Amino acid sequence: MDFRFSDSLRNMKPSEIRELLKYASTKGFISFGGGMPNPASFPMEDLRKIMEDVLSDYGSLALQYGNTVGLNDLRTEIKRLVKETENISSSESEIIVTSGSQQGLYELAKIFVNPGDTVITEEPTYIGAISAFDANLAEMHSIPIDDNGIKTDLVEAEVKKLISQNKKPKFIYIIPTFQNPTGITLSLERRKHLVEISSRYEIPLVEDNPYGELRYSGKKIASLRSLDPSGQVIYMGTFSKVMCPGLRMGYTIGPEDFIAKANLLKQALDLSSSTFSQYVAWLYLKRDIIKKQIPKTIELYRKKRDTMLTALEQHFPEGSTWSKPDGGMFLWASVDKKINTTDMLKDAVREGVAYVSGNAFSPARVQGNSMRLNFTFSGENEILTGIERLAGLIEKKLTVSPPS
Ligand SMILES: Cc1ncc(COP(=O)(O)O)c(C=O)c1O
Repeated sequence: MDFRFSDSLRNMKPSEIRELLKYASTKGFISFGGGMPNPASFPMEDLRKIMEDVLSDYGSLALQYGNTVGLNDLRTEIKRLVKETENISSSESEIIVTSGSQQGLYELAKIFVNPGDTVITEEPTYIGAISAFDANLAEMHSIPIDDNGIKTDLVEAEVKKLISQNKKPKFIYIIPTFQNPTGITLSLERRKHLVEISSRYEIPLVEDNPYGELRYSGKKIASLRSLDPSGQVIYMGTFSKVMCPGLRMGYTIGPEDFIAKANLLKQALDLSSSTFSQYVAWLYLKRDIIKKQIPKTIELYRKKRDTMLTALEQHFPEGSTWSKPDGGMFLWASVDKKINTTDMLKDAVREGVAYVSGNAFSPARVQGNSMRLNFTFSGENEILTGIERLAGLIEKKLTVSPPS
C-alpha cells in the first residue's frame, strides 16, 4: 500500500545517537555519544526497597491508572524539591508530572506552535528539543552561545526583527545550566536579561534544567524561574539524571492556564505517566534519598570530567578548543574548520570510538567542525583511550589536509 503519511514528521531525521547505540555494546568500543547516566549512579538498593514498599503498601493504587496531572503527593514533594534546590515557589496546581521531560518538550511545542510559528533556541541546543519542535513544524531561530551562554543582545535583536515581520516567537527555549550539548552555564546577568526580554515582549521563557544538581565546581546561579517575580517562566525538571532515566519521570511547572492545556494534551498522549514510577519517585523524594544520592553521583562524575579535560589537554591537536563545564554530562569540542565531524564519525566508529557530531544539535546546521563528548558513561581508562583514539584520527585528517 502507498501510505499517505502526514506532513508533521517531514523535517525529522533518524537520530545519529540512536544509530550509534547499536555499536555501544561491541567489546572495546568506547562511546562518548549517548547522553546516558552511568549505571553506577543508580540508587539500586534504595530503589529495590522503595519498590517493595510501593507494592506492599500502595500496590492497588500504584498499579492502577492515575490522575493525568500526576500523583498529588508527588507534586507536593516536587514543590519542596524545587524550592530547596532552585528557590522556585510554586503550588501543586502549577505542576504537571510528565513521562520524562522529553514529553514536556513535546507538549510545550504542541501547545504553542502552529505550523510555521517561530521559536527561539540556543545554537547549538538539545537534540530532543529539536525533534519535539520539528515534529510540531516549528521554525527554529537559533542564537549563538559563548562561554557565558546564549548571547542575549542577539536574542533581543532577533525578537525585535521577528516581531517587525509579524512572526513573534511563541517561546524562548533555554537550558541555562550545564547545557546539553555544550556544558556551558548562562551568566546571571544574561539570565536577568532573558527574564526582562520575556516580560517586555510577552514571550514565554522556558527553562529546561535536567543537570542543575550535578555541579562539580563553581557557584550555583539563580534559576530563571526564581528570577521572574511574575511566575511566568515555564520550568522543566526530570528525575533521569538524579535517580534513573528508566522510570521516565519528569515534571513541568508553569502558570495554571498552561498546565491546564498540558493536562488536556496529556489525556491524548498517555492518560497519565506510569503510576508505579510516580509512587517510586514520591518515596525517593519523601525519604530524602535524593539528598544522599546526588553527592555520590557528583563524586563519580567530577573525576570523569577531570579525566576527560586532562586527556584533551594532553592529546588534542593545537587549534582545537573545548568547553570546561562546571557540571552536567557533556563537553563540546571544536576542531579545525577543515574537518567535518559528521564525515569523520564513520572513521571514528571504525577506530572504536564515537561522539555525536555538532550539526545534530544545530538548528542552523552551523556546527560542522564540532562534537559533543559525554564524560559520564565511560570508565576513566576508557576516557583516556577514547580521547587518544579521537586525537589520533584528527591528527591523521589534518596531515592529509593541513590547517590553513
Ligand atoms: C536538555 C534536556 N532536556 C530534556 C531531556 C530529556 O530527559 P528525560 O526525558 O529523560 O527526562 C534531556 C535528556 O538528555 C536533556 O538533556
